Amino acid sequence: MLMSENIADKLNDQVTSELAASQLYLQMSLACEAMGLSGAGAFFRSHVAEEIQHRDRIIDYMIESDAVVNLQTIPAPEANWKSLVDMVHSAYDHEKKVTDQINSLTKAALAEDDFSTFNMLQWFVAEQREEMMLFGDVVEFMNVAGFTGDTGDQMVNMDNYLRKLSK
Ligand code: FEO
Repeated sequence: MLMSENIADKLNDQVTSELAASQLYLQMSLACEAMGLSGAGAFFRSHVAEEIQHRDRIIDYMIESDAVVNLQTIPAPEANWKSLVDMVHSAYDHEKKVTDQINSLTKAALAEDDFSTFNMLQWFVAEQREEMMLFGDVVEFMNVAGFTGDTGDQMVNMDNYLRKLSK
């Protein structure tokens, strides 16, 4: 195997984390659709595809490195968002958590002089910066628009804004 057990375990955990993220965003998309928000639904659905791409990048790297991937149980996402505002904040907080995980994984690779894994993770470091910028922009837009999550014109604007971001 072209990596230590420690790094393989951590990468395996990251596969689980990316899988869990894809479930979370799928649940958010479904919750939006249930509220009649097809733009927000499309936005979160497009993110499901991103998370699956993240999962597969790590899986492919592990396969190429002769590391064994073990899928783990993923608990159902907690779907108790009070509003779209709450959901967006929750997505932003989730991305912060994933950014911390990627940073910690990157540090672990460097601590072991595993430059190959460190190099592979650079893509994720850049990707997490983009994810933080994207969700940060949505939070900022909500704040500037004074969006409270109530139905009406503001909700239509927000739904249209998120639909554009999904393309
Ligand atoms: Fe896989 Fe949204 O980070």
